[in-house]
Amino acid sequence: MPVRSRQPNPFAGRRVVVTGGLGFIGSNLAGRLVRLGADVLLVDSLIPQYGGNLFNIRGIERRVTVNIADVRDPHGLPHLLRGADFLFNLAGQTSHMDSMENPGTDLAINCEA
Ligand SMILES: NC(=O)c1ccc[n+]([C@@H]2O[C@H](COP(=O)([O-])OP(=O)(O)OC[C@H]3O[C@@H](n4cnc5c(N)ncnc54)[C@H](O)[C@@H]3O)[C@@H](O)[C@H]2O)c1
Repeated sequence: MPVRSRQPNPFAGRRVVVTGGLGFIGSNLAGRLVRLGADVLLVDSLIPQYGGNLFNIRGIERRVTVNIADVRDPHGLPHLLRGADFLFNLAGQTSHMDSMENPGTDLAINCEA
């Protein structure tokens, strides 16, 4: 059902990219953006043990585009972002323990990308 609001809707008909779109926040945001009429592209690596899961977009899977890609890919990401009006960057390595054990990976995903 479309979202009814007196607020201006900057997302209707706009191309919106959500990285980490199969995670907790990204998938909930995706649902909201779909209801606001946005053209939504979800970019997620689905790295095992991280928070991404296709189950999170159950119900909106036919109304979004999903691209399984890694935000650390310097070649693929610019292509995916071409023509985007908005980017929500919610891809993240969220484990504190993993960040201690492998700080290079943590920095590459959470900062460098
Ligand atoms: N959930 C919270 O309460 C909360 C609070 C404050 C900040 N945050 C931050 O918001 C962001 C999203 O949090 P979340 O709770 O949705 O986490 P989440 O783990 O549910 O989602 C993160 C998503 O990023 C994806 N991802 C990880 N590495 C990737 C990569 N290299 N390329 C592409 N996708 C990748 C994962 O597959 C996952 O779907 C994180 O940066 C987190 O630190 C979350």
